[in-house]
Amino acid sequence: MSSDASTVDADYAMRHWLGEDPGQIEIGSEAHKRLFCRMLLDTHNPYKPAVIVWPKLDPEALQRVTSLPIWDIAVQTEGRAQLRVSAYTALVNDPLLREALVMDGGEEARHKVVLGKLVEFYGISLAPEPAYQMPKDPEWGWLVTGYSECVDSFFGFGLFEAARRTGYFPDELVETFEPVMQEETRHILFFANWIAWYRRQLPWWRRLAFELKVVRVWTFLIWERIGIARGLDHNGEMQDANFALTGSQQIGLDLKLSELLDLCLAEDERRAAGYDKRLLRPTFMPRMARLVRRFMR
Ligand SMILES: [Fe+2]
Ligand SMILES: [Fe+2]
Repeated sequence: MSSDASTVDADYAMRHWLGEDPGQIEIGSEAHKRLFCRMLLDTHNPYKPAVIVWPKLDPEALQRVTSLPIWDIAVQTEGRAQLRVSAYTALVNDPLLREALVMDGGEEARHKVVLGKLVEFYGISLAPEPAYQMPKDPEWGWLVTGYSECVDSFFGFGLFEAARRTGYFPDELVETFEPVMQEETRHILFFANWIAWYRRQLPWWRRLAFELKVVRVWTFLIWERIGIARGLDHNGEMQDANFALTGSQQIGLDLKLSELLDLCLAEDERRAAGYDKRLLRPTFMPRMARLVRRFMR
């Protein structure tokens, strides 16, 4: 993005946010709902994809960027996310939560436009997009998108930083794409708080059904990623978001898994550090990473 004063301000504002009234808040309360909804709404960065100036890359950098097998799936993931978020939004009556979900879905739509512009500018050819299906159960779709973002962002943050450090992605490109990464931080923060809040709204019998659905969502996500990894083995091409699993080789890094996990943990913390400490942080991926990390040197 360009770096005039208003852009710099907007960039700062999207990364730093405190709720208005200090003091403790109870998870699941109205105050909690206000806190996580306002966080998303107030930190929205109003950039316009159409005016993003994509940096010219030297031939080698261009080759590296265009040959990454992630663009199809990135575009499709955003397309599906946008649809799933808006399907769930239609079920929500609470005005503030609805406003925040509209914002969330709108940002997913914008990610897709940003990626479309990037792909067009660098001449990356994409497979034809599938017809995106409206989820039959909108809550299911929203949970799938929310948890997927928690998993993929966790690895994405580390890989993005690794690609920056090694120069695999030139600085100007990192800078241009950076707001999209930070938006995913806001999304997973929003999702982690929404789910904690939502759980507390449910009477026990609905809560039970909901927890079963969450288990089914995780089963689906694991199955989806195994399927993707298989697809990679058969034709040597990466078709989906398991970029996380093989990503460090893809970006030509000689990183040990332990180093990658450390980087993911550090980036995950750094990106969320500027937001109100009373908001819950997504914990599942960092906990898993720390657990795995304990068995490594
Ligand atoms: Fe997105
Ligand atoms: Fe997102």
